[in-house]
Amino acid sequence: MGSYLRPTELKEALAALAAGPRVILAGGTDYYPARVGQPLDDDLLDITALPDLRRIVDEGEHWRIPALATWTDLLETPLPPLFDGLKLAAREVGGVQIQNAGTLCGNLCNASPAADGTPNLLALDALVELSSARATRRLPVAEFVTGNRATVLRPEEMVTALVVPKPKHEARSTFLKLGARKYLIISIVMAAVVVEIADGSVANARVAVGSCSAVAQRLPALEAALTGRPLDANLADLVQPEHLAPLSPIDDVRGTAAYRREAALTVVKRAIGAGRMRSPAQQVAFTVNGRRVEIHVDPVRRLADVLREDLGLTGTKVGCNAGDCGACTVRLDGRQVCACLRGWRRRRCRVGRWSPSRA
Ligand SMILES: Cc1cc2nc3c(=O)[nH]c(=O)nc-3n(C[C@H](O)[C@H](O)[C@H](O)COP(=O)(O)OP(=O)(O)OC[C@H]3O[C@@H](n4cnc5c(N)ncnc54)[C@H](O)[C@@H]3O)c2cc1C
Ligand code: FES
Repeated sequence: MGSYLRPTELKEALAALAAGPRVILAGGTDYYPARVGQPLDDDLLDITALPDLRRIVDEGEHWRIPALATWTDLLETPLPPLFDGLKLAAREVGGVQIQNAGTLCGNLCNASPAADGTPNLLALDALVELSSARATRRLPVAEFVTGNRATVLRPEEMVTALVVPKPKHEARSTFLKLGARKYLIISIVMAAVVVEIADGSVANARVAVGSCSAVAQRLPALEAALTGRPLDANLADLVQPEHLAPLSPIDDVRGTAAYRREAALTVVKRAIGAGRMRSPAQQVAFTVNGRRVEIHVDPVRRLADVLREDLGLTGTKVGCNAGDCGACTVRLDGRQVCACLRGWRRRRCRVGRWSPSRA
């Protein structure tokens, strides 16, 4: 039987790690599923009672995402379009329950090749802040994760935050994940893109691909090819198979290496060509229950959230967040759809209450 500590001060937590190795426990959404059927005999350091490690803050030169910031915290924090890609990933990490408990730092520290946060953090040029009782150091994400489930975290350290530097220019980002179905799925391929824009052209591009190598990889040759080019619909045409050279996909139950390589090319092209890269927020006009509405919508938000939060239509519930339960069903242009799965690809539509008796 292992021991269990739940300190309420960071100093206490770091002292415990200095005294001997412990498994750090945050949301537990990676830790517990990995131990199903096994005895829980680890010496645990539960960090969930540590104060001031939850709120994502703007610290002038950078944003700070502390160790206990969850995917839901990220989604609920107003952030610039630079974070749209990371927010799109947040929406697809498990269901709402997992997003409420799982942390961004836990996702990175678990170092799964399929972790949805990692390619985004690479594209954001994020740093990892590692603290011990003796010192604090910061490392780029690419140096922190060294292999499948391997990081350079020392036994006496914990990750206290992710640090995202502010870009020099206006920046936009996106994220695209390919899975065997739309939601609640481990990705086969995923791509995260950040572009900085100056005078309508790409001043700086960062592209990272996950699930196609032991550690998500940046694509430097592609980034160089994109730089200086006009930010228009033709940008995606620049993506060539040789740009994917850093990837080393494997065959597994979710897909063959050859399929992954081909899919990666398509996913990267689609991410770079995505409309939100050129225009992060949209003015949308639509009719809801017979009422004409015009609002400015952030493309990372779903129809369900806009109906509930912006228009007060709380009859639309979000239950499973995965298109399974039907609690969010609305009638969209005469068809029943799950509002939890709908983004804002169309600018004009008619939305109405769906009632089972009329189905
Ligand atoms: C049903 C389900 C669906 C999921 N879907 C997805 C998905 O779609 N995409 C995806 O990427 N992931 C998914 N996950 C995995 C998981 O939810 C995420 O990776 C989550 O972000 C992990 O965070 P956590 O706080 O729960 O980590 P924990 O389980 O608490 O920890 C994970 C690992 O990181 C270490 N750790 C945690 N915090 C720190 C810290 N501050 N310093 C040092 N080490 C630390 C722990 O020791 C452990 O080794 C899913 C999990 C479940 C159960
Ligand atoms: S919330 Fe369950 S289907 Fe949308």
